[in-house]
Formats: sequence, C-alpha cells, structure tokens
Amino acid sequence: MRTITSIKNAKGKPPLTVITAYDALFASLFDKKVDMILVGDSLNMSFNAQQDTLSASMEIMLYHTKAVCSGAKDTFIICDMPFGTYTDESIALKNASLVYSQTNAHAVKIEGGVERAHIIKALTQNSIAVMGHIGLMPQFVRSEGGYKVRGKTEEDVLKLIEDAKAVEKAGAFSLVIEGVVASAAKRISQAISIPTIGIGSGVDTDGQVLVWSDMLGFFNEFQPKFVKRYLEGATLVQNALDEYIKDVQNRSFPSIEHTY
Ligand code: KIV
Repeated sequence: MRTITSIKNAKGKPPLTVITAYDALFASLFDKKVDMILVGDSLNMSFNAQQDTLSASMEIMLYHTKAVCSGAKDTFIICDMPFGTYTDESIALKNASLVYSQTNAHAVKIEGGVERAHIIKALTQNSIAVMGHIGLMPQFVRSEGGYKVRGKTEEDVLKLIEDAKAVEKAGAFSLVIEGVVASAAKRISQAISIPTIGIGSGVDTDGQVLVWSDMLGFFNEFQPKFVKRYLEGATLVQNALDEYIKDVQNRSFPSIEHTY
C-alpha cells in the first residue's frame, strides 16, 4: 500500500494510477490495484445527479469516505473537501479533522492555488496530509461562469506554475492538475518536486486520475473529450436487466437450480 513518502518518491517513476470511488462495493474492486482512491465530490454529479459539485456537504463526504475505506482497506484513500468547508484556517482544520477522526482516509484534497496556500499550510502543519488541485476547479464553476480549460496563454501558464509552487511550499504531498493544456501541464509538473496527477491534462503528468463512472461507462449524461471508456457499464447493466425482466415474465427464472 502507498504511503505519503512512496507517493512523493514516485515523481519521475512510472505514472501513478488514481481512480475515484464512492461506495464500498466498487472500492473493493479497485482495492490493491490502483495507487490511490479519491472519494471525489464529483459524486454529487455522477452518484447524486446534481448539476455541479457545490451542494456536496461534509456529512455526505464523510459517509461516502467511510464506505470507501471499508471496501478498500489496502489502498491509500483521499477525501475531497467539499465547497465551503475550508473558507479559513480554523474552519478547514475543524472539517479536515473530522476526516481523520471519523474515517480511515489518509489525506484530504483542496481546490485552489496561491489563494488557498495558507489553508493547506494550516492543515499540513497540524498533521493532515493534503493533495492540492489546480487548473480547472469544479468548485469555482459558478464564480468562473463555467468549466474552462486552463493554460492557453503564457500568462495563464505562469499563473498556474505560481499556484503549483505555492501548493508545494504549503506542504501538499501531490497535486491534481485538471483541464490544463498538455504542454502547460508538462511545464507545471517540471516546475515542482511533488507528483502531479492529471485529469484532462495530457500525458506528461506524474499520474492520472479518472472518475470511475466515466471510465467504466456508467455515466451517460455527457462524455468529456479526456475520458477514455474502458467498459460500456451502462449498456451491460441494461442488457442484463432486460434478460432478467424477460426471464421473470416468461417464468424461466427462478428455474430448478435457483429453487429450494
Ligand atoms: O471530485 C473529483 O472526482 C475530482 C477529480 C476529478 C480529480 O476532483
């Protein structure tokens, strides 16, 4: 199982693999396979059918993180801190402490660069491991007026590098780079010594993360360009369900072998 030290040492080594999970059942399927499992607040959209991640609460994240920790006992687990739960150092410390006291997660994740570095520092100085998150930040969707790919201009690339350095200096052990032009993500990764985990940011980060329901084809509302589907989960489930309905209706289920 990964530790903070082995994750940090993975910089420049074969890429780290990260997947999200929201429940014990799927977490148990991912356990001991990937390097890290992220209980992302994306669950508010893919699991809870909301328009964005903003209404995810601490209570919801703790519930799902507990479930994931029960299912994946041998994998490094990160709990996403939801919107509004780290608005200043003491609020962040209070809420992030709940992750350690009420679940077995190993770290928390916080969105934001330079403007959130003081929050990350307050947590890391109080023995809470933090994964940063810069670039396209879903918790900023309303204030930014949508989901926008970052790193398209030199000015923005320099801003992102500054963000990454601030997050590293504040003590984060790794950094998610989301929705950033590939060449910019490469430069950010080269500018810091903690591993970067990319999503929609090209191949040159130190690892990749995908939302499980996207990559396994269960989420059909929309498919971002950066998602590769490794399974057509929704189609498989619906085909199986059609079989079940047919079998029940024509009384071929339950057959003798399924009957006491
Ligand atoms: O909430 C989430 O799943 C995330 C990943 C997309 C990085 O933050």
